[in-house]
Amino acid sequence: MTYFDRRDGVLCAEGVPLSAIAEAVGTPVHVYSAAALRDAARRFTAALSILPRTRTAFAVKANPNSAVLHLLAGCCFGADIVSGGEMRRALGAGIAASDIVFSGVGKTDRELADALDAGIGQFNLELEEEGRVLAALAQARGKRAVAVLRVNPDVDGGTHAKISTGRRENKFGVAIADAPAMYDRLSRLDGLDLVGVALHIGSQLHDLAPLEAAYERIGSLVIDLRARGHGITRVDLGGGLGIPYRVDDVVPTLDAYAAMVAKVTRDWDVDLIFEPGRVVAGLAGVLMTRVIWVKPGADRPFVIVDAAMNDLARPVLYDAFHRFEAVAPDGERMVANIAGPICESGDVFALARDIDRVRRGDLAVFHATGAYGAAMASSYNCRPLSPQVLVDGDQFEIVADRFLPEEFAA
Ligand code: LLP
Repeated sequence: MTYFDRRDGVLCAEGVPLSAIAEAVGTPVHVYSAAALRDAARRFTAALSILPRTRTAFAVKANPNSAVLHLLAGCCFGADIVSGGEMRRALGAGIAASDIVFSGVGKTDRELADALDAGIGQFNLELEEEGRVLAALAQARGKRAVAVLRVNPDVDGGTHAKISTGRRENKFGVAIADAPAMYDRLSRLDGLDLVGVALHIGSQLHDLAPLEAAYERIGSLVIDLRARGHGITRVDLGGGLGIPYRVDDVVPTLDAYAAMVAKVTRDWDVDLIFEPGRVVAGLAGVLMTRVIWVKPGADRPFVIVDAAMNDLARPVLYDAFHRFEAVAPDGERMVANIAGPICESGDVFALARDIDRVRRGDLAVFHATGAYGAAMASSYNCRPLSPQVLVDGDQFEIVADRFLPEEFAA
């Protein structure tokens, strides 16, 4: 089921024709479907319901829009954050501090202190020294910080190198071989309540096998830590599940994922934390754009659209594929390159792509931009940050205005 379907020949978000949004708000614009978000959240929770004790913290980095976070808070999701800014977004959206996990390889002292003051529920430690600094900051406040140690399991998630996090050469986590002794030392610190371990091996994973291998390694570590006298009550299994960007992409189902987790963790007797991002928000958004020109090219035309790599950085960063569809196609096809207006040859969304025929002034969308779309936008070339719209049924509202620093104004 998709929430971006055609009605009377016009692509809609739920019950709203996208052309109506373009008319009211302009382009480029990020459009989210509330029903798609709720549905994805519900399906994630339902799949995990075969597991005894779970908590889900949405990875805010995937989509930090306040309205999106508020909606997910209503689906009983907490938040996985990586900065003070994300913390304030999550708290402001109504997510309880106790339901927030603070991940991130470079939390500043200020961010740690603010998170302690806010009462954040879990700190994911990335190195021993961070644990010592956090313990001292907590002690100075007469508090104990609840923390887990993020471990690098040295497993290749089989995803794009730039979004792989669980190999030994990546910057994340502590080497699994060093973890037991480090855990011994950290658990002795006043001010720290070390309750378990965490891992996250990468994003847009399309195969469960590496995840399973990583979880098995963490299972062995839990046994080892318990044998050393540690009361392990929590394991954070991270996020990473992939979504189908192409119509024929095959990704693991949520049920298959949950069954794998149930199998690997059956004897762990811990609370399991999940940090999904893309699998919740990815398919719930599109980036709508208008064709500025169809420019003749050497081998094929360039469809120059008004969205650019500053609105959607995934293609230039990870060679990512986003389906392109005209809002009101005429049934003809064309083969074209699709590019944005930014002055870089890399500002290209697709090369030699078979697409709906479009002409100057036509509207089109890039699909599956609800995660890591607007979240990664920049104002490169002095372009404004594009607005964001949330559709719910036959209503829509602007949930982030076009952000135009004064000096960029025309
Ligand atoms: N937890 C941690 C510690 C993470 O680093 C991430 C993502 C997640 C959870 C959520 O992962 P997800 O379920 O969304 O795969 N900008 C890239 C993705 C970067 C992901 C970074 N970490 C992209 O557009 O593909």
